[in-house]
Amino acid sequence: MNSTKNLAKWAFITGASSGIGKAFSYEFGKQGYNLVNLARRAENLDKIKREVEDLYQVKVINCQLDLLKDGLEERLDHFFDEHKLQVDVVINNAGCGFYDLFVDSDLDLKQRTIDLNVSAATRILHYFLPKLLKRKTVCHICNVSSLSSIIPVGHFAVYSATKAYLSSLSEVLAAEVKGSNVKIMHVNPGGVQTEFLDKANQELVNKNNPFMDSPETVARKTLKALFKNKRRYVPGWANKLSVLLFKIPPKNLAIDLAYRTMQKNAIKKQ
Ligand SMILES: NC(=O)c1ccc[n+]([C@@H]2O[C@H](COP(=O)([O-])OP(=O)(O)OC[C@H]3O[C@@H](n4cnc5c(N)ncnc54)[C@H](OP(=O)(O)O)[C@@H]3O)[C@@H](O)[C@H]2O)c1
Repeated sequence: MNSTKNLAKWAFITGASSGIGKAFSYEFGKQGYNLVNLARRAENLDKIKREVEDLYQVKVINCQLDLLKDGLEERLDHFFDEHKLQVDVVINNAGCGFYDLFVDSDLDLKQRTIDLNVSAATRILHYFLPKLLKRKTVCHICNVSSLSSIIPVGHFAVYSATKAYLSSLSEVLAAEVKGSNVKIMHVNPGGVQTEFLDKANQELVNKNNPFMDSPETVARKTLKALFKNKRRYVPGWANKLSVLLFKIPPKNLAIDLAYRTMQKNAIKKQ
């Protein structure tokens, strides 16, 4: 049985059709939140809506929308005018990456990664933050960044840089709204078993890599940290340890080691 205490509350999740975003949907449902799930794939969204509503007796509204198409703000306005609901939590999660050396990869891939992870993520914050600040209740924003924002890795150069942008933005926004009703956190997962790797053309050498987290675990732990009003969070002890170890050697050596570790553990899918 779900708790009924959050039934009037709404969480808005970008990239809710698979992976970590999908896991967030189930976790919010379990906690009694109603949901607005945004992504492009209607079939996936419909299935998640049916299951979450059946399992947890909450309301799920799909927002089938491409974050990279023009007029994002107008389309969101249109959606919220139609549905007349106020969001309490925003999960800024949609993102993509590609596994390749910078010199070998297409400009289109680089641009798409920047457009989604930087531009669209920023626009989502620009859209929601003023609205949340007008609310009388405590609201939360979670920016889904990456461990690579702390430990930038070779073969994921552009991706790492986009996530460093998002983490940095999140840190500063959290400071700017300190003392208000809005709490802002960024989460930095390490490897998570989702479609991400496949879409990024990355293949792990060891398919049973014990350090890969499940999206369900990441979503559950992240929500716990978010509702404790943390400003940054790294899920999993192995990831926390990597962050500590990364700080020990001189920076050049640490970056070279991260690159070599990635080279040893993954290959580009042919
Ligand atoms: N998996 C990992 O190892 C890992 C590690 C650290 C951080 N992350 C971050 O976690 C977040 C979620 O990734 P994931 O691992 O769950 O990968 P995923 O399963 O590929 O999920 C990506 C989500 O983003 C949505 N999306 C992509 N392009 C979109 C667009 N143009 N408009 C609207 N939605 C779009 C996808 O939905 P549609 O295709 O249906 O639009 C999907 O729901 C990303 O920000 C990623 O960088 C992942």
